[in-house]
Amino acid sequence: MFGKKEKQASSKVDLERIPKHIAIIMDGNGRWAQKRHLPRIAGHKRGMETVKTITKAASNLGVKVLTLYAFSTENWKRPEQEVSYLMSLPGKFFDAFVPELIENNVQVNVMGYIDKLPDATRQVVQKAMDDTAQCDGMVLNFALNYGSRSEIVSATQSIAEAVQAGTIDPSDIDEQLFAKHLMTSSLAPYADPDLLIRTSGEQRISNFLLWQIAYSELVFTDGLWPDFNADTLNNAILEFQNRDRRFGGIKSK
Ligand code: FPP
Repeated sequence: MFGKKEKQASSKVDLERIPKHIAIIMDGNGRWAQKRHLPRIAGHKRGMETVKTITKAASNLGVKVLTLYAFSTENWKRPEQEVSYLMSLPGKFFDAFVPELIENNVQVNVMGYIDKLPDATRQVVQKAMDDTAQCDGMVLNFALNYGSRSEIVSATQSIAEAVQAGTIDPSDIDEQLFAKHLMTSSLAPYADPDLLIRTSGEQRISNFLLWQIAYSELVFTDGLWPDFNADTLNNAILEFQNRDRRFGGIKSK
């Protein structure tokens, strides 16, 4: 159990119905910094502190997988200085936080085109995954150089190669098989988020987990990511718990 504070703030949440997989589009770091006349990277630095807070809160609530959109395949278009700062963040984060993650049995996973990351970033994320590989509590899953359309294309390519090699027949291709070729396959049985949160008031998906959110509840919150905290997480979970999830069926009595 990480510190006790987060536990008290969760009093209204039904602990029996916590979403097992929560995915978050962490948006608004730049605006947070701009409001304070600070450089954008100050917002990302503060955003990294929020990642620690929310990891602790989610783990204490019993969440199984927390997926955080840290860097998209489109984020390379940002100014070089910002990209380079964002690439340095995993190192700063894991250096400071891995011992606490291990103590709390949190396993780190990183999904995305990891081979295209700068060497130093690739090495620190690999080390964090290795160092926490034995932990079997919550999975803290970073999407880093991730893009959902590319992921779907890559899955299609690997299935096509398997067909060409004769190891599967086109008639074997179904939703289960397709999902096994996606970057979330190692998260099974929690590969699909129950709840997707986006901060900062923007209401779009931005190429995140397009396949996996088919039945997720979407919650858009107005606050900026650096201001997100255990209480705002609890409010999003409460909203999730007040929704009627039917998965295309009808309401169960
Ligand atoms: C979007 O806000 C945020 C990002 C592109 C980066 C998110 C990264 C973090 C929160 C830190 C990640 C931490 C680790 C440990 C990897 P924005 O910059 O688009 O904000 P804006 O829309 O206000 O400009």
